[in-house]
Amino acid sequence: MSWKSVMLCGLLIASLAGGARAQGPAPPSTLKEAFKDSFRIGAALNQAQFEERDERGTRIVTTQFNTISPENVLKWESVHPGPDAYRFDAADRYVAFGEKNKMFIVGHCLVWHNQTPRWVFQDDKGEPLGRAALLERLHDHIRTVVGRYRGRIAGWDVVNEALSDDGSLRPTPWLKLIGEDYLAKAFEFAHEADPRAELYYNDYSLENEAKRKGAVELIRKLQARGIAIAAVGLQGHDKMGWPTLAQQSATIEAFSALGVKVNITELDIDVLPAATRQPTAEVSQSAQAQDKLNPYASGLPDEVQQALAKRYGDLFGVFAKYRGVITRVTFWGVTDADSWLNDWPVKGRTSYPLLFDRNGEPKPAFEAVIRAAAPKAP
Ligand code: G3I
Repeated sequence: MSWKSVMLCGLLIASLAGGARAQGPAPPSTLKEAFKDSFRIGAALNQAQFEERDERGTRIVTTQFNTISPENVLKWESVHPGPDAYRFDAADRYVAFGEKNKMFIVGHCLVWHNQTPRWVFQDDKGEPLGRAALLERLHDHIRTVVGRYRGRIAGWDVVNEALSDDGSLRPTPWLKLIGEDYLAKAFEFAHEADPRAELYYNDYSLENEAKRKGAVELIRKLQARGIAIAAVGLQGHDKMGWPTLAQQSATIEAFSALGVKVNITELDIDVLPAATRQPTAEVSQSAQAQDKLNPYASGLPDEVQQALAKRYGDLFGVFAKYRGVITRVTFWGVTDADSWLNDWPVKGRTSYPLLFDRNGEPKPAFEAVIRAAAPKAP
């Protein structure tokens, strides 16, 4: 570079610095910096990211976030694939990545009706297990998995998606074979295995009144049994028009009133046309591929990009308002290319639900979220 260019760069930097001094501190350039006085902010990682094979994704994670969740590797099918077979190699690498990068490490999830092998609920003849036998199997699983990461995984999604949309307990094998107290037992087993870990109940669509009321009653019952629920996880698989900001606020307030914190645990915003009758994250739902359901296969129109940015900015305006009640916001994936929404409920769509695009570049929604962190002038 010629001396003249060096001089010009120096002058440019000096003028920018002078200008910045005049305008006050530069705005934060990362999410964790922007929300450092509000809540932890993170993402669900796939195996390529925590094994650092997805270099771009890993760089976004270590630059932008201070908490991580495992998209799949701590689920029952991954760590406990057979009756006497535990498999922790991938989960060990997930936890090691979190410790190496000084992250708040989340465990997801101990009890779910999905991604749990059928053998869990059967005896060696393939018949349904009785209550006592299934409780012992659950106890062994939680004692082994939570115990392995005692003092390292800071918080666990103990039970995931135990409610139906009407707020009643979902008729899962856990409920049918053990009974209603399977939830309380799971939390007791987790607390026994790591008394210092935060314990969460995690679900989707709790912004809908009927399901929210069911969750409030569920939390109250668990609290009445002396179970310390640290937080409720609102998954946050949101749409452009759902939940409304009023619904989001009312839901945060409803759980805060129980004395529990709130985590937004699986945040994404789906801009694609609805392919399910109601807003849901019910992973068992599927829909036929049709062109009209995949309108942005070759790119996202700017007006949609800007609408997504506004939606994210509005939602984070609510989250920032409830800083202190909300202790964590986790995106369900790092870039648009990683999102489960590319294959649910329709396989093979091109979805745009996150803050970073398929090239790992921040979208307008990223800037909108950073702006939402700035305390509003009185
Ligand atoms: O591991 C197998 C692999 O061996 C096989 O070759 C491949 C081919 O189909 O499938 C792989 O399993 C996939 C698994 O993710 C691990 O990648 C399953 O098919 C796939 O269905 C599964 O999807 C996960 C989904 O949960 C399943 O329920 C998504 O990645 C994950 O993002 C999603 O996460 C859930 C949360 O845990 C709970 N809340 C809802 C959220 C979205 O469904």
